[in-house]
Amino acid sequence: MKNKKGFIDVLVGLQWGDEGKGKNIDQLLSSKIYSGVARFQGGANAGHTLKHNGKTFIGHIVSSGCLHKNIELYIGNEVVVDAVSLVKEINELKKLGFNIIPRLFISNRAKLVSYMHPILDAADEHKRNKSGNKIGTTNRGIGPVYSDFRARRALLMGDIILPEFDKKLAKLSEFHMNTLSMYEKKYGFKIDHKKVAKTKREWDSAVRELKKLNICDVSYRVQKRLSEGKNILAEGAQAVMLDIDFGDYPNVTSSNTLPANVCLGLGVPHTVLRNIYGVIKAYTTKVGGGEFPARMKDSAVEKLFQDAGNEFGATTGRPRMCGWLDLFALRYAIGLSGANKIFINKADICLADKIKVVTGYKTNGKTLKEFPLYLDKVSSVVTEDIAGWGDKNFAVSKKEKVSKELTSYLKYIKNKLSDLDVKIISVGTGPEREHYFNWDK
Ligand code: GDP
Ligand code: IMO
Ligand code: MG
Repeated sequence: MKNKKGFIDVLVGLQWGDEGKGKNIDQLLSSKIYSGVARFQGGANAGHTLKHNGKTFIGHIVSSGCLHKNIELYIGNEVVVDAVSLVKEINELKKLGFNIIPRLFISNRAKLVSYMHPILDAADEHKRNKSGNKIGTTNRGIGPVYSDFRARRALLMGDIILPEFDKKLAKLSEFHMNTLSMYEKKYGFKIDHKKVAKTKREWDSAVRELKKLNICDVSYRVQKRLSEGKNILAEGAQAVMLDIDFGDYPNVTSSNTLPANVCLGLGVPHTVLRNIYGVIKAYTTKVGGGEFPARMKDSAVEKLFQDAGNEFGATTGRPRMCGWLDLFALRYAIGLSGANKIFINKADICLADKIKVVTGYKTNGKTLKEFPLYLDKVSSVVTEDIAGWGDKNFAVSKKEKVSKELTSYLKYIKNKLSDLDVKIISVGTGPEREHYFNWDK
């Protein structure tokens, strides 16, 4: 790295996911300072929506640089690759006029999601459901594949072109089948053998397609690009509040979602990291199990936000719970991520005359200083009321056209974060690439 000139900027969600990360990556690429976009963790549990020129694409594995023809797309070593999803995305992009194959580089160290992992995921959820503590996973096999990796029996992407692949797969599948039989006997999980066989056929065919792709040492390639003076954007999946170490364990995903993981998930030193972009919505959403302290108490108001914000999962279609902006969680997420530039999305969605902001958590009547280990120990939240602004900021792209209520909301947030080294730089006013205005530049 002697002649290093390029840098890596990182973009992560600072809430519980679905903040609009895909759109902001797409938006950042218009600056033309990046030559590639890299996914560094997670898998097809992510769903990042891109909308441009009447085209919509939801990326699960493929990074959000796909709609920019000269951008290299990297899948780093900490990513768990869902073969069927990846092949589907490549084909979908082809239909939209983007052949990404020549510019897609997959780490040979990335983990391969086997056809059994989603079934094991479902079996785990079945078991957890019996004791009422379902995580509400996306059922993409994320937990099981990362477990296999840590237990040192996972298949890596580089394995698929090796002669011993079939043997390794057979051994892993046998282990998985034994685990499933145990779940069947002990917890009554039904194994649908016909469905398993069909899933395997689809998976086999997708893996054959993957063999035609660039499976390589992504760390080497990224380092080479940096040494040529090229810059790269690292695209977080999930979000800080779903990080396996720092989220509300076990209601988290199975990877580290923090920018710190860019170094391990791509194979680069921390010295190449520059800006950390953090993305939030003007309110908060969450899907899956676990507590959500900032959740709107009035279900009719929550429904208004859900419908207006189209808050249905990009991966599973599940309705997302809606809550107020949670400044206590946001300060925690900024501290963990080191975010220095903030994108606020969905400022066009405000369906109440008065909205709330969460400024603190309480346990047994005491206001907390530190973020709690378990969110179910939070007994109430401290809130402040703010004037709403309705839908009048939709598609606003100039600061001067922003309603006075939204302007004062943004100033209020900035003020609440004034002791942190962070700036709000852009505010989203709709789903399209150009639906935003710059703020505080
Ligand atoms: P990601 O996972 O963080 O990339 O976010 P998702 O794609 O799962 O969810 C964000 C949703 O909000 C998508 O449907 C986007 O098209 C949409 N979106 C993003 N920014 C805005 C915005 O500023 N306003 C509105 N109305 N929609 C937005
Ligand atoms: P993007 O990148 C929102 C949630 C699931 C579940 C928990 C664990 O689109 O923001 P997993 O399948 O990872 O084992 O599920 O994490 N979850 C997400 N929620 N957006 C995501 O990704 C998510 N990926 C996982 O709902 O609660
Ligand atoms: Mg999403």
